[in-house]
Amino acid sequence: MRLFLSKKMILFIRGNKIPALIVVALLGLNTTAIAQKIDIARQFKYAQQQTTYMLEALKTADTSKGLVSPRTFEDGKLKLVNSKDWTSGFFPGILWYLYDYTKEKKWLTQAQAFTAKLTDEQYNKTTHDLGFIIYCSFGNGYRLTGNEAYKKVIIQAARSLSTRFNAKTGVIRSWDHNKDKWKYPVIIDNMMNLELLFNATKLTGDSSFYKIAVSHANHTILNHFRPNYSSYHVVDYDPETGKVIQKNTAQGYSDESAWARGQAWGLYGFTMCYRETGDKRYLAQAQNIAKFIFNNPNLPKDLIPYWDYDDPAIPNTPRDVSAAAIMASALYELATYSTNNNFKEKANIILANLSEHYKAPLNTNGDFILLHSTGHKPAKSEIDVPITYADYYYLEALLRSRKFVKN
Ligand code: GLY
Repeated sequence: MRLFLSKKMILFIRGNKIPALIVVALLGLNTTAIAQKIDIARQFKYAQQQTTYMLEALKTADTSKGLVSPRTFEDGKLKLVNSKDWTSGFFPGILWYLYDYTKEKKWLTQAQAFTAKLTDEQYNKTTHDLGFIIYCSFGNGYRLTGNEAYKKVIIQAARSLSTRFNAKTGVIRSWDHNKDKWKYPVIIDNMMNLELLFNATKLTGDSSFYKIAVSHANHTILNHFRPNYSSYHVVDYDPETGKVIQKNTAQGYSDESAWARGQAWGLYGFTMCYRETGDKRYLAQAQNIAKFIFNNPNLPKDLIPYWDYDDPAIPNTPRDVSAAAIMASALYELATYSTNNNFKEKANIILANLSEHYKAPLNTNGDFILLHSTGHKPAKSEIDVPITYADYYYLEALLRSRKFVKN
């Protein structure tokens, strides 16, 4: 544990010859103070107010062309996406988390309405992002309501996602675009979509979903990671031989850099895989990814990463608050599988800092909760803006923190 004492405190301790034990007790209070800064009730009150403004704005937003869910606020404009977009499930998920916390009917009604707009995606076989789209919306909905119709959607979505698995490569294909560049691209983000498959096996008793998820996770450990446990963004496979052709980036600074959100997806993904399988290799992988992140000299003191750990412009480059929110949520879960308090302390610090320093004033920021995320810097898209998935994982982290933070 690292603690910071002000000059005044040190002089006071010395001047008053305060014994070491009392100093330690004072330091203990200091740590508690960090944890207690996360006032979960206050943050959820704010999240409800801000989301109420968002719902008001959505009433008059342009929803032609199948636009259903808010994604970001860029160039002064609220941007919505259609149900096919990889981010369409996060806003329904946010509404489910507000219902989860409050148990109020108004949030249930809204969550149901926004979830229903994504129903057709259960048949979508053109993207690996079905996990994000369906599990954040219908997955949370099923967890909180037991609605049988939601269960059917989850199972069908797992079937659709499974069609993207190729036994030769042992992994699920992520993207169908850029065919001139990649034959069979798999991105680290894909780890997140495995949760849908693990749960489809639990719901059906059909182990094929589970086996695909395990195969994908094992190949990802083999092929996506560098010796220091940072990960490549894109690994391209040859679907005929199963061999790796190349390792690149799409959204990071360079092929060999550590894109911040990619590291967060890996941390979360392997923690979740350990939950679902009990396989200690996944736990070790998550712990090693955490070590890479927290030993990184370019991680700022407040633990909110720059968008890529290797951008040479650091510190004059944007943060990625979405990566921090994903990390906080993952770390709270990882803390429950680990004997040291380190992960919990890091999660508390991230969550306290997001809550105190990265939250937008009410009814600003396009009515999103958090400021300063970076979507796709190389494409000059969504730089230093609010993004819906940052808010989703922030609320998830707040919910998970209830195990650890007294309110
Ligand atoms: N899954 C896409 C991203 O993290 O931007």
